[in-house]
Amino acid sequence: MTRTRFSFGFHLTNKHIYTAKQAFAFESLGSVITNSLNIAILTADPANYSNRRMIEAGRSLGHNIYPLPSLEQCLNVDNRAYVAQLDPLDAVIPRIGVALSGFGQCLITAFEEADIFSTTSSFGLFHSRDKFLAGQILSGKGIRVPKTIAFASSRNIDSAIRAVGGYPFILKKLKGTQGEAVYLINDVDKAHKKIDKYIRKRKPFLIQEFIKESKGSDLRCFVVGGRVVAAMRRTAAPGDFRANIHAGGKGESVELTNEERNMAIQAAEVLDLHIAGVDILQSSQGPMLLEVNSSPGLQGIEKATNIDIARQIIQHIETQVTSQNHG
Ligand SMILES: Nc1ncnc2c1ncn2[C@@H]1O[C@H](COP(=O)(O)OP(=O)(O)O)[C@@H](O)[C@H]1O
Ligand SMILES: [Mg+2]
Repeated sequence: MTRTRFSFGFHLTNKHIYTAKQAFAFESLGSVITNSLNIAILTADPANYSNRRMIEAGRSLGHNIYPLPSLEQCLNVDNRAYVAQLDPLDAVIPRIGVALSGFGQCLITAFEEADIFSTTSSFGLFHSRDKFLAGQILSGKGIRVPKTIAFASSRNIDSAIRAVGGYPFILKKLKGTQGEAVYLINDVDKAHKKIDKYIRKRKPFLIQEFIKESKGSDLRCFVVGGRVVAAMRRTAAPGDFRANIHAGGKGESVELTNEERNMAIQAAEVLDLHIAGVDILQSSQGPMLLEVNSSPGLQGIEKATNIDIARQIIQHIETQVTSQNHG
């Protein structure tokens, strides 16, 4: 089936009018337009590297791709008003910040209800945003995760610490990112101080076995459509144990073992994510899944591996939308 899906009516802002002109230019070139897709990136930050790269890749493959500010959207509970405005969108790429997870989930649900392909499912966004919840689901599917305990009161702190292997252990917020609020706790005093503070402020947190043999490094596996398209080893800055690039870690291209690759693919599948940044620690028991990011950044990993991930994302969307339309 060939499709010509450009509609000038739905372009709501100047940005969109620009892309409509571009569409018109394609149309005058002939057949290119028939396979063009309308793809929106749901984001509050259209200018960031990842979004710029995906827009570049989408346009170079002949698609109409543009940022759609997640904050400016207005949803009707019956999903119709919103979807009518956006029709005929073919796909969305949610890049929703942590602060907007709740509304982001509603936005994605509106697209799911309208059968518009989304690279992130609402299930995946919800579960990947909470480290403990993600751990529960993944461990329930037999994926190896570090010993982890979540709690909300100061009862049983000492036995919980013993249960995750004693000192030193890791304490972190359930919903943190970029290495913020991830602490290595070495002694009883520090443990009680930190834990009491979290409990007093009613901030949910977890404690976790410290995988010391990973030596401040982890594996970031970038999964697109059930394949690991790029992987890097991230190594923490000297004196730090956190490998995050934002915390000063350095990335280099790495060859994964089959076990690591399969773990990353399975984790993305369990959380129903077409795009996922899966972080794995190399432990003495084998790979251990640390977390799954549903909006993984492209900058660090494209630079470290020299792989055009943005293009692979768009090409994956092409296969999904085509198969949806044919199926
Ligand atoms: N249990 C652990 N054992 C060893 N290192 C860890 C552990 N938990 C976190 N780290 C290190 O800290 C980094 C940040 O932790 P993570 O849980 O991924 O939080 P964030 O969501 O902030 O990235 C990881 O990339 C890893 O290098
Ligand atoms: Mg992380």
